[in-house]
Amino acid sequence: MTDIHVVVLAAGKGTRMKSQLPKVLHRIGGLTIIERVIRTAAALMPTSITLVVGHGANEVKQSLAKRHLLQFVTQEQQLGTGHALLQTRPLLEGKTGSVVLLSGDAPLLSVDSLRSLLAAHAEMEAAATVITARFPRPFGYGRIVRTNGQISKIVEEKDASPTQKAIAEINSGIYAFELAPLFAALDGIGTANKQGEYYLPDLVSIYRKQKRTVTTWTVERADEIRGINSRTELAEVSSMVRQQKNEELMAAGVTLIDPATTYVDADVVVGADTVIYPCVFLEGSTKIGAACEIQSGARIVNSTIGDRVCIRNHTVVTDSTVESGSFLGPFAHIRPGSQIGEDAHIGNFVELKKTTMGKGAKANHLAYLGDATIGDKSNVGAGTITCNYDGDKKHQTVIGKGVFVGSNSTLVAPVKIADGSYIAAGSAVTADVPAGALAIGRARQENKDGWVAKKKAAKAKT
Ligand code: UD1
Ligand code: CA
Repeated sequence: MTDIHVVVLAAGKGTRMKSQLPKVLHRIGGLTIIERVIRTAAALMPTSITLVVGHGANEVKQSLAKRHLLQFVTQEQQLGTGHALLQTRPLLEGKTGSVVLLSGDAPLLSVDSLRSLLAAHAEMEAAATVITARFPRPFGYGRIVRTNGQISKIVEEKDASPTQKAIAEINSGIYAFELAPLFAALDGIGTANKQGEYYLPDLVSIYRKQKRTVTTWTVERADEIRGINSRTELAEVSSMVRQQKNEELMAAGVTLIDPATTYVDADVVVGADTVIYPCVFLEGSTKIGAACEIQSGARIVNSTIGDRVCIRNHTVVTDSTVESGSFLGPFAHIRPGSQIGEDAHIGNFVELKKTTMGKGAKANHLAYLGDATIGDKSNVGAGTITCNYDGDKKHQTVIGKGVFVGSNSTLVAPVKIADGSYIAAGSAVTADVPAGALAIGRARQENKDGWVAKKKAAKAKT
């Protein structure tokens, strides 16, 4: 086995994105474009991965800080793709093996295609192998010029003659190179072209002059090599990525009522027999169990959902855990750090934040439960509010097991409400409640007999 060194070019500005964000940091299906490319690279199990950064270098580096095996070189001025690859010289010259060159803006390429590229490259004992594709509308890409069937050079759109522009076979910008002759040949690339740039594809004609073998490998699904240069392409590629993810889910036994409007990020896992309604968003590291029902308008971010959970319309769950058999929503808001126990019910217009609901606990209507622990089988009435914030600090509300909190109660934290107690409706609870007690924290009602008649009589006199 020869050593494989991956180089990813990502120094360009991405002018056509019209963005403050470096192009490769735009997201597709929850991952940045560059993260997708690096994941593909890593799947090749290479000896090294080198990322050429320039525009927004720090942001790009930071976004990938957690990746080991990754080394960075900076291309201070973006003088062209040939110049970009030359920047890796201090890291790669003198090493043995092959370079796989990837474009940081082409995230759809599969590992299988890269393996095929390397196989073709090795079989032909080539100095360079170019991935090509056939596009019905090749506009904008470098064209593959052949003589006697052999690739002789690549011509950029801007430099192409009308005859060359008619060529449908295009350069993907993805290549395999032998390391040994590479850097000396890169030195030979000039800037005598319409854009005044160092064109990496010029390596093809240089190698041909040196009588080195240059071959091509044509990718079957041309979409794989699509690059992202504009917001339109970002949307188009996103839609392809989404479709692929949705097909994987359906193959694994998940029902998607309308795959076209189901938005599932790359790393999301969903169990079999779960039914997902239209317009659902499953994001980040979310894991959904089996036989769940996720209704329209739900958005679940970085959360773990058990089996047989029903998440009704327009419910948002973020950074939380929901155990099996629970019901959420419609219109529930589960904010970060919440834990919902088995068979719990969280109804409409209930907001939770850093709150634990015990097994079978219920808060069925209109409540705010923040920084709270609610024991098994407790029932929180409509309109209950935990006053967790005193304007300075957050405080805990601890409700035991089997507690009944009457409607419209105000629980002023810090406060503890022990097992089996009752809170009378409309109470403002400011002191702890012992187990089994009834707490009434409101003014006693007074009825004034005959009050209305007296009032009317008084009015008649004036
Ligand atoms: C390039 C190819 C073209 C090919 C197309 C495929 C050249 C001259 N042309 O064109 O034949 O059909 O890709 O998508 O190579 N980059 C740098 N530093 C630079 C310039 C570019 O790192 O100085 C990076 C960019 O960030 C990008 C990649 O190289 O990730 C490709 O550059 P881009 O300007 O998009 O090249 P294209 O014009 O698309
Ligand atoms: Ca490009």
